[in-house]
Amino acid sequence: MNRPGLRARVEAARAGREQEGLLRRARTCDVLGGGRRVVGGRILTDFCGNDYLGLAGHRDLVAALTRAASAEGVGTGAAHLVSGHRGEHAALEHELAEWTGRQRALLFSTGVMANLGTLQALLGTAVHGRERALCVQDRLNHASLIDGASLADAELARYPHADADAAARQLDARPTRPALLATDGVFSMDGDVAPLARLATVCAERDALFYVDDAHGLGVLGPRGAGSVAAAGLGARDVPVLMGTLGKAVGCAGAFIAGDADLIEAVAQFARAYIYTTAMPAALAAATRAALRLVREDVDGRRERLRANVARFRAGAAQLGLGLMPSDTAIQPLVFGATTAAVDAARQLEQDGFLVVAIRPPTVPRGSARLRVTLSAAHTPDRIDALLDALGRLSARRQAAAV
Ligand SMILES: Cc1ncc(COP(=O)(O)O)c(C=O)c1O
Repeated sequence: MNRPGLRARVEAARAGREQEGLLRRARTCDVLGGGRRVVGGRILTDFCGNDYLGLAGHRDLVAALTRAASAEGVGTGAAHLVSGHRGEHAALEHELAEWTGRQRALLFSTGVMANLGTLQALLGTAVHGRERALCVQDRLNHASLIDGASLADAELARYPHADADAAARQLDARPTRPALLATDGVFSMDGDVAPLARLATVCAERDALFYVDDAHGLGVLGPRGAGSVAAAGLGARDVPVLMGTLGKAVGCAGAFIAGDADLIEAVAQFARAYIYTTAMPAALAAATRAALRLVREDVDGRRERLRANVARFRAGAAQLGLGLMPSDTAIQPLVFGATTAAVDAARQLEQDGFLVVAIRPPTVPRGSARLRVTLSAAHTPDRIDALLDALGRLSARRQAAAV
């Protein structure tokens, strides 16, 4: 038989990535306090993580996790719908629903799984028969939203970034298809906020279900940190499907989908990434409940500290003439364009004591490789100033090399 080899094909793809300088490597980053990491024996300040409120190592979370693990063990040993659903999960789902102003929330083990599972359940031909649904999405949406539409075998129509009129045109072009419009609330690689109010109107006028992935807004934006949707003054009627992750500002891991009770029940019945996987450890749910208390009350002013850090970074970058993107959130990208330029910049920052990983295609469009600087309430003003100094030196070197 002369079947082409799968191994040869995947090796050729990997070698192609290597040739283009696009290989990624996991580096071991051990944790010190204050957003610092030990990487390759050196101490670096992490300016590329998503622990926006600096809660991942908080003593309340650690205490809740260890207490629950001592009582209940580590693994749940079964899926939620078998025998893996614990009191901690039920309480966390209840609290997430209450926090986000929805009737019900459903836990998933990761944000990727929440997007894949929910879109597959809501749009999937395997669930709903042969008629393909329409899934309209922002061009810069997270990969798992795009993959969710493919998994559902939905017709995917992408609109130019943040262009609500173009989104409306996509829906108008297919008026007879059942439709869902999905967007990141805060865009993960650009840091800007989606035009949520306009998109909600577009959806309401066209009977399309509106789905917001608020991975980077939850905990950070809006009253009580309830996210970008609440910050835009929108509620459950405007955004019937809200997805949030628990591994970023909430400092834990996992994700949830929230909405009205009927819709969430349907997701629970059909989402394969929910049904066929082991429930997250109950101790993690307990830690997440402790984190939610801190996020909602914010007694030690972490959101304000983060806001001040973002403002300090932006003001310093403007003084240095660094071309930041228009973002007011914790995500502050510096676009270099060429992959090699972004990788070189990351390397030089590392020599200066900063961990800021270069983000390259295919995570971002070709020609827009960048340093995705992220800020946290855990950063001290002097570390932000030191990063700005390093970026200033980098920029001066680049300018000198250009003349
Ligand atoms: C917008 C967005 N959605 C979903 C996810 C996936 O979340 P998780 O890391 O919990 O799988 C991410 C992760 O970076 C994200 O940025």
